[in-house]
Amino acid sequence: MSIEDKVIEILSSSQNYVSGTNLASMLGVSRVTVNRVIKKLIAKGYPVDVHPRLGYRLVMIDDLSSLSLYVKNLNTYVKYSVHYLPACSSTQDIAESLAIEGASEGTVVIAERMERGRGRLRRSWSASEGGLWFSVILRPPFVKNLQLVTLAIGVGVASGIRKSTGLEVKLKWPNDVLYNGKKVGGILVEGKLEADKVHYIIAGIGVNVNNTLPPELTELATTLSSAAGKKLNRIPIFLSILRELDAQYSLLLRGEEKKIIKEWKKLSYTLNKMVEVVMDNEKIVGLAVDLLPDGALLVKTGEGEFRKIYSGDIIHLREA
Ligand code: BTN
Repeated sequence: MSIEDKVIEILSSSQNYVSGTNLASMLGVSRVTVNRVIKKLIAKGYPVDVHPRLGYRLVMIDDLSSLSLYVKNLNTYVKYSVHYLPACSSTQDIAESLAIEGASEGTVVIAERMERGRGRLRRSWSASEGGLWFSVILRPPFVKNLQLVTLAIGVGVASGIRKSTGLEVKLKWPNDVLYNGKKVGGILVEGKLEADKVHYIIAGIGVNVNNTLPPELTELATTLSSAAGKKLNRIPIFLSILRELDAQYSLLLRGEEKKIIKEWKKLSYTLNKMVEVVMDNEKIVGLAVDLLPDGALLVKTGEGEFRKIYSGDIIHLREA
């Protein structure tokens, strides 16, 4: 990656100014080099705002229709391209139609608002203006275990939010994104798979950023802007999520699932908590003791029995 790309990457992941000293130390170069690279970027048309005391900031108007420009500079394994829509029914459905027509891996459908946003377990998903609602087409050559794909995407989303906002979001199994115990993001993984072939996977990602939540959700959910106490620029968050998603997906393709599990555990809100697990035909209550190598949640029930949970919904009861 060239030094110019690195500077764009650092500036586009930050909501605030990055000082020249910090940039120089992150890149391992002198302040003089930083100045030279910034001048070059400005000459190329990058809107870098230079503040004499605070440093540098990439001016990004919170306009998702310009995302294609920024995505081009992502130095990722997955080659992303963006389809922007002011409104749609559900980005999942549009991404699926594109996947069926042969759209390539990395195709992203993003909408300003969705009329019929979909959540896990056939729930609806509220998606008014101001949030990030997008679906990414992935075409892994093989999938050993769909649960691990789901967890990898969760880690990517949570890490992307953390790196771009500094907010310490966590993951509720399998992949709800929480801030202070309230939901700020959700992930819906769908796809067409056969025994030996993956046709496509659609990773649907919803993050509450500057949107207003309907009153009935505010007890259980929140937004990143409420957490940060200010309106946030969505573009750095989106780009950071795509970068981190790419990093986790690359681990998956290289068979390095252990690293994904380790990262998930670090970000976990669920482990060591009492949970109620609601499955199709039964409910169990117990302590979430571990995340197993295949992505299952290990729960120890009151009777001392260990249960491996592969799907279902969990409710956190109280701190253990
Ligand atoms: C959940 O927590 O239940 C998952 C929510 C997933 C919401 C996202 S927003 C983008 C994509 N399009 C949809 O209709 N749903 C997903």
